[in-house]
Amino acid sequence: MNTNGIFWENEEKKLDERVHEATWPGGQKAVDRLAKQGKRPARDLIQELIDPETCFFELSRIAGFGVHYPGGIDDVPCAGVITGIGKINGNWTMIIANDSRVKAGTYFPITLKKHIRAQAIAEQCGLNCVYIADSGGAFLPMQADVFPDDGHFGSMFYNMARMSAKGLKQITMSTGGNTAGGAYIVFMACQSVMIDRMSYSFLGGPPLVKMATGEEISAEDLGGARVHTHISGGADHFCADQSEAVLRVREILALEPPQEIHSHRYAEAPPVVSPETIYDLMPAATHQGIDGRKVLEAICDDSYFIEYKQHYAPGRGDNLLTGKIRIKGIPVGVIASNAVGIIFAEAARKASEWIVRCSQEKIPLLFLQNAPGYMVGSESEHQGIGKYGSDMVRAVSCAQVPRIQLVIGPDNGAANYGMCGRAYRPHFLFSTMRARTGVMSGRSAAGVLLSIEEKNREAKGKPMSDAEKQAFREKMIEKYDGEAHPFYCGSRLLTDRVLKFSEIRDWLAMAFEVSLLRPIGEPSFGNFRF
Ligand code: COA
Repeated sequence: MNTNGIFWENEEKKLDERVHEATWPGGQKAVDRLAKQGKRPARDLIQELIDPETCFFELSRIAGFGVHYPGGIDDVPCAGVITGIGKINGNWTMIIANDSRVKAGTYFPITLKKHIRAQAIAEQCGLNCVYIADSGGAFLPMQADVFPDDGHFGSMFYNMARMSAKGLKQITMSTGGNTAGGAYIVFMACQSVMIDRMSYSFLGGPPLVKMATGEEISAEDLGGARVHTHISGGADHFCADQSEAVLRVREILALEPPQEIHSHRYAEAPPVVSPETIYDLMPAATHQGIDGRKVLEAICDDSYFIEYKQHYAPGRGDNLLTGKIRIKGIPVGVIASNAVGIIFAEAARKASEWIVRCSQEKIPLLFLQNAPGYMVGSESEHQGIGKYGSDMVRAVSCAQVPRIQLVIGPDNGAANYGMCGRAYRPHFLFSTMRARTGVMSGRSAAGVLLSIEEKNREAKGKPMSDAEKQAFREKMIEKYDGEAHPFYCGSRLLTDRVLKFSEIRDWLAMAFEVSLLRPIGEPSFGNFRF
């Protein structure tokens, strides 16, 4: 491994440490507390729920770090909810599980964002959902930020109802409290499973009932598993413990129709070059260019990239590569950054053409993003970079095929749009430790802001000294580079997962397979300028 490779391995160790913190909240003490309640950590239940020897593809593990909420809460480990995709009886299924070790599984704004993002993936890809519900409901000190709005608490149940209406099963396994609005996760499910003396569901818990009506009643008698499965009929399956409940959920989903992907698929073949070479290919400095062809070769089957318009406009057209690859047998169209990745008009035109062609052929698209922006300057403007860039954004927005973005370097300005950033609703958006997502690089932002500050200070008759300029520049670089870092973006759910370079191939294969479960419609684009 060369110095680049060693650098990225070390960066990924930092990712491992953060993930460990996120997935181990409260340490052994918290696990022991669960055990006293007859419970196991939700990840253990998930592993038992999915098919033996299969992998749980866990999403957004570093969400919630450094979110700084009122009451001195800096981190909400893993956003308090575990989300991810695994196979149940051979079918890909979305699993959403409260982690009751994190403030009783209550919903902070970031918890909601993560829960609703998982539902959005499920809806877009046509996945059944299993909810492992154990939550104190809204995090009360932030009720105004989690309760009343679209995208807040009520949206989770709205989504359940609409997905169910589309034929996507919503199954809830309650493993704890589900109070007030949270109770609906049990009652809205297509089928729900409750556990004796562990699951509770009520619109108002015993203290509220006493306050409101004077009635004194235990949680068990008010809304325990026996009440809802034997008396109210609000839940459907009564189980003795968590293991039985997990088996019951698998049984409920046992006769689902087997999924099939809407694509032809070839035999899977590993890359010819070792996938580990990707570490050496990535310059440690994120502004330095990459060899996009070699990166693709390290990811795709047979290391075989069939390039489209390889010789078009050298030095300008080839800052974006277009062509086809196979990922574990699935044919995929690619738009991949190359060299420093600045997008010239020729590259934008080529990319738009390619997106339209892949849409016509119903081939899914991979955007491999390492672009600091579109080319600026009078030559570029006069050549029409604005209109060709917007054509590319239009093509990306309207392409009806599954689209996946993988960020492996700079991800700035309008290049974020043209390369299918979050606002363009890719089916999945992944990043790596080399990703830097921000309106511009720290260096550029510092330059722009410094020139504004200098003018302001001069107008006030207090020009900046060289030392002040330097301090200002450094502060801005730290702020903007910090906000572009994958830890910052991952904690705010601007990515579905920060991948290690070695994980890229397996994750892309899963993501394309899942994205292709729904039939692909016909292409329809708006008004291109050309
Ligand atoms: N809002 C804010 N914080 C909450 C909360 C809520 N809705 N529910 C629980 N918490 C906090 C507790 O204050 C505690 O914080 P701490 O660790 O800093 O002391 C932590 O979460 C763990 O709660 P605890 O009660 O110790 O856990 P438990 O496993 O014994 O009980 C519940 C879990 C969910 C049954 C219980 O916390 C509860 O009934 N919460 C209130 C539920 C409710 O009425 N929600 C209505 C909102 S829609």
